[in-house]
Amino acid sequence: MNLDLVPLLFEDSRPGRRCVRHANADKTQASHGLPARELREAPPALPEMGELDLIRHFTRLSQKNFAISTQFYPLGSCTMKYNPVVHEKIAADAAWMGLHPMQPADELQGALGLMHQLQEDLGEATGLPGVTLHPAAGAHGELTGLMVLRAWLDEKGENHRRTILIPDSAHGTNPASCTLAGFHVSTVKSNDLGLTDMEDLKAHLNDSVAGFMVTNPNTLGLFEENIQEICDLVHQAGGKVYMDGANFNAIMGITRPGDFGIDMMHLNLHKSFSTPHGGGGPGSGPICVTQELAKYLPEAIVVKNGESYSWSRPSHCIGRLRAWNGNFGVLVRAYAYVKRLGAVGMKRVAENAVLNANYLRVRCNKHWRVPFDRTCMHEFVARPTKVMKDAGVHTMDIAKRLIEKGIHPPTVYFPLVVSEAIMVEPTETESKETLDAFAEAMTEIAKEACAGDPCLHAAPTNTPVGRVDEARAVKDPQLCFRCS
Ligand SMILES: Cc1ncc(COP(=O)(O)O)c(C=O)c1O
Repeated sequence: MNLDLVPLLFEDSRPGRRCVRHANADKTQASHGLPARELREAPPALPEMGELDLIRHFTRLSQKNFAISTQFYPLGSCTMKYNPVVHEKIAADAAWMGLHPMQPADELQGALGLMHQLQEDLGEATGLPGVTLHPAAGAHGELTGLMVLRAWLDEKGENHRRTILIPDSAHGTNPASCTLAGFHVSTVKSNDLGLTDMEDLKAHLNDSVAGFMVTNPNTLGLFEENIQEICDLVHQAGGKVYMDGANFNAIMGITRPGDFGIDMMHLNLHKSFSTPHGGGGPGSGPICVTQELAKYLPEAIVVKNGESYSWSRPSHCIGRLRAWNGNFGVLVRAYAYVKRLGAVGMKRVAENAVLNANYLRVRCNKHWRVPFDRTCMHEFVARPTKVMKDAGVHTMDIAKRLIEKGIHPPTVYFPLVVSEAIMVEPTETESKETLDAFAEAMTEIAKEACAGDPCLHAAPTNTPVGRVDEARAVKDPQLCFRCS
């Protein structure tokens, strides 16, 4: 058979039958239950082409996508790091793919064993032994943790404690999760060093406080140096400390949140533990809690009895927050990641993530303003200098110019405490050559920005879609192909 001649409409490809189901003939034959007025009068004008042209078309389209497998992706906070291909293969193994969550536990022993081991490993890595793999993402983990906190307060008869304190540098999901869980949010200021302002924290502590929700390292890429004192103060005031663990990749293997006083935290397995998530999913946000809080965790914890595994429901369980038991494929990748790296490898990941970020910080601070310019963790925040701003250059112009240079823009306009922020997270997997190329691109852009070069406002000019009106795109989204 000449494959070049295989028509596009495979199901109607027999001679003389092409498109027959779409034409009038359908009206007299089985019309799939559609009313006659909905049926076509004529075959649709579908393009017809050979397989080779088709393959080239889709391959060219796929190459227009920005991907970590082709270009540098230094997306601060959202961490688009390289995820080993072998983990994809392991997760796609037919032995996992063929399972159904409603199978009886004795048919799922391998899967349950993997989940149990992962629970143990995450508990060990965080120093918080109560672990559930149930939540679907980081924000869902936050909600789960806050519901655990509510259950703990309610059992103690302290349901007047309904305020959660959050630093002003926090990710937007933190206050959103508090509100969803029925708490009020009160904001604690950051100090001149970019850390929680201790005096402001103390001023906020009273008997309406349920807890403090802190990201560590925080969203400025800085380790909260007073974290132990913060935890002590909150505990003395009768609250608990929730840690947003989205940045755990900067500290894993080096320090454990449970050891510095954290009561509960989530991990974004899709950020720190090797699942690609650039497009928003799939995700997994296990939470890890102290022994005291473990009895409130949502159901479906895996337990080991002798040599076999089964599901268990904690005694004061808050219930179920989603169907089934998490994104199992993400759990397989996380398990593979932990087992392949081991404790030593995980520590090296964190060290290299921190080293790479500091290397870029020092190279960038020569031309850009780095507001908290001291040793950072896995990411740092920069912004345009006064000269650049006076020349009319905004962070969005820099982001668009980077696209033109083949680099995915870092996160922009976040965290909110830094105006015109550009947040760079190189991750641990990038080579020095790639980091140097980024630093050089930033240097060239800085020179253009100081000169107010109009090319910055026009960028990107070499992409299929050029500069879009971002505000209009949000207010008036055109979500269909070739909308009029
Ligand atoms: C600091 C921080 N907290 C929370 C989240 C929310 O995580 P998720 O997107 O998995 O819901 C993110 C997301 O990247 C984050 O960077």
